[in-house]
Amino acid sequence: MAQAPVRSITVLGSTGSIGRSTLALLEAAPPGRFRVEALVAGKDVAALAAQARAHHARLAVVADPAAGPALAEALAGTGIETAAGPEAVIAAAERPADWTMAAIVGAVGLRSTLAALRRGGTLALANKESLVCAGPLVLEAARASGATLLPVDSEHNAIFQALMSRGEEGYAAVEKIILTASGGPFRDWTLAQMAKATPEQAVRHPVWSMGAKISVDSATMFNKGLEVIEAARLFALPPERIEVLVHPQSAVHGLVQYADGSLIAQLGTPDMRTPIAHCLAWPERMPVSVGRLDLASLGRLDFAAPDPARFPALRLVREALAAEGGAPCVLNAANEVAVALFLARRLGFLDIAAVVEETLATLGDEPVGDLASVLDLDARARRHAEGFAARRAAA
Ligand SMILES: NC(=O)c1ccc[n+]([C@@H]2O[C@H](COP(=O)([O-])OP(=O)(O)OC[C@H]3O[C@@H](n4cnc5c(N)ncnc54)[C@H](OP(=O)(O)O)[C@@H]3O)[C@@H](O)[C@H]2O)c1
Repeated sequence: MAQAPVRSITVLGSTGSIGRSTLALLEAAPPGRFRVEALVAGKDVAALAAQARAHHARLAVVADPAAGPALAEALAGTGIETAAGPEAVIAAAERPADWTMAAIVGAVGLRSTLAALRRGGTLALANKESLVCAGPLVLEAARASGATLLPVDSEHNAIFQALMSRGEEGYAAVEKIILTASGGPFRDWTLAQMAKATPEQAVRHPVWSMGAKISVDSATMFNKGLEVIEAARLFALPPERIEVLVHPQSAVHGLVQYADGSLIAQLGTPDMRTPIAHCLAWPERMPVSVGRLDLASLGRLDFAAPDPARFPALRLVREALAAEGGAPCVLNAANEVAVALFLARRLGFLDIAAVVEETLATLGDEPVGDLASVLDLDARARRHAEGFAARRAAA
């Protein structure tokens, strides 16, 4: 049998939770199947340099310009090219590679997501904020270059797997899709308890091991909200055909309900290596040594509707989706600001949704079009959210 050609891989956000899981899969793959073209991190030079050495990367890039000399020093004599600064991140994404993982956290990942899509090849998208704040631009970039866009988020990857037929006819037979949510660490907390929640409690997710920002998003359920927007973009479905169910076991990741009443689900242990591997090997499958779901010992699968009083994020997201225009971008920017302030202990947990709601009420009607208008609205929403949060914290 002819040997499959070596696939070149770029990982944007290689030092984060998704980035590390991606590199762990490359390490476990048979030698000669993958080779690393470029690795990109925000500021963690020590981790980036160690990854670049271990994976014989051709290029290592750190977004923080001040960290450039330390990266160059750490990789001196290895032959690995280094670069620093936001423009170097874009250049790394533009560099030819067969497969790119977009796993930078936040809307700051948008420009590199677009750069990788414009260049073509396959893009595995973990950076959901790109799709939330500039969905039409992301989809158009993929369409124009013919790039393959694969969803990494476990729920969207599950739905991608459960969609048996694609194209207009396939979608016409889809009645609705269901995204499951673990419910996060505060699933059973009262509002009074949530008002006093600390960053440590919010990032201690009961099921998934993830970066700090997405962990807080899971605790507020803004993560599920962002995923509703992500699903609306990826699967071209109106919001009323995207349902969210709390499913504490996190065994069923996503479901598709068809016109004949069939419900097709994808199940697995809550380990991001499964959806990442699905994207790495797609359209084939690769063996992965994650734990297997033992249904007999699991015994039961519970599902419940989310509580709108304790988790207003889902209502805000649906309002932003209904408004369209720049509202999802505003929601995302305000949420990023509020989460960062909460993690810095400068804002209460329940204030996160309040900051998003107020920012949406002020800027949610603004239109967006090209990338410049998205970046401009993102920046204005951040400034507004910061000002409102500061006033609220001082009150
Ligand atoms: N973790 C999960 O299980 C999971 C599941 C589904 C989707 N996602 C999505 O995947 C994305 C990454 O999540 P994560 O949990 O892996 O986050 P994370 O652990 O916080 O990692 C974030 C990565 O982005 C890098 N980064 C931060 N700012 C940057 C900048 N300005 N320029 C370039 N790189 C920058 C970080 O580098 P440093 O380490 O140097 O700061 C790190 O490599 C998010 O959009 C998240 O919503 C995550």
